[in-house]
Amino acid sequence: MLKKRLMAIANLVKKDAIVIDVGTDHAYLPIYLSQNKIAKKIIATDISQNALDGAQKNIEKANIKDITLICTDGLNGIDIFYDTLIISGMGASRIINILDNHNLPNYIILSSNNDYYKLRKYMNKIGYKIIKELVVLENDKYYDIISYEKGNEKLSNINLKYGISKDKKYYKYLYQKQKEIFKKANFIKKMLIFKELIILKKLSI
Ligand SMILES: C[S@@+](CC[C@H](N)C(=O)[O-])C[C@H]1O[C@@H](n2cnc3c(N)ncnc32)[C@H](O)[C@@H]1O
Repeated sequence: MLKKRLMAIANLVKKDAIVIDVGTDHAYLPIYLSQNKIAKKIIATDISQNALDGAQKNIEKANIKDITLICTDGLNGIDIFYDTLIISGMGASRIINILDNHNLPNYIILSSNNDYYKLRKYMNKIGYKIIKELVVLENDKYYDIISYEKGNEKLSNINLKYGISKDKKYYKYLYQKQKEIFKKANFIKKMLIFKELIILKKLSI
């Protein structure tokens, strides 16, 4: 059984998708997608051969035949067709580097470890709109998981910073975090944060 974060990603994969999981590491997600007949075909890649050796062992243990493992940096050299791209468990800058200058599919699922603002802004700029956004609390850390499709949308600064998940517990957590920053801020910074604090408070109730 997958942990909450990977399960949330799996739940966003469409039936019979042809998936590429970039930075698969242990390949837990591809194994789940194959075992549960969610994906039709799966390519699992990693920059680390060591990680892929571990993935290979897990795939063999699970007796799975339909996962193709490839050792590469991001999407470099991938010439196999896929309609769903998943990148999770990396920082926003690394994810952006992987996406940059590649022919991307219509459907993308991303889960960054940090800087969601930068990632949402980038996706918006390259012509992708948010389809669904989920927030998952795992090991005392919140993870934001977003599915995208090609398209344009206008996102407010608050949406770019804090997303569109409508998860009240998450917004409450963000509110408390911003409140702490507000307490320690100088006058000018307080003025800048105040409006945001009010919005976060409203979103959390
Ligand atoms: C923390 S693990 C995440 C594993 C899995 N995707 C998840 O969400 O649980 C990050 C993995 O990304 C791989 N990675 C880092 N940079 C990469 C890149 N540029 N291209 C492919 N894989 C990369 C690492 O080797 C590592 O196995």
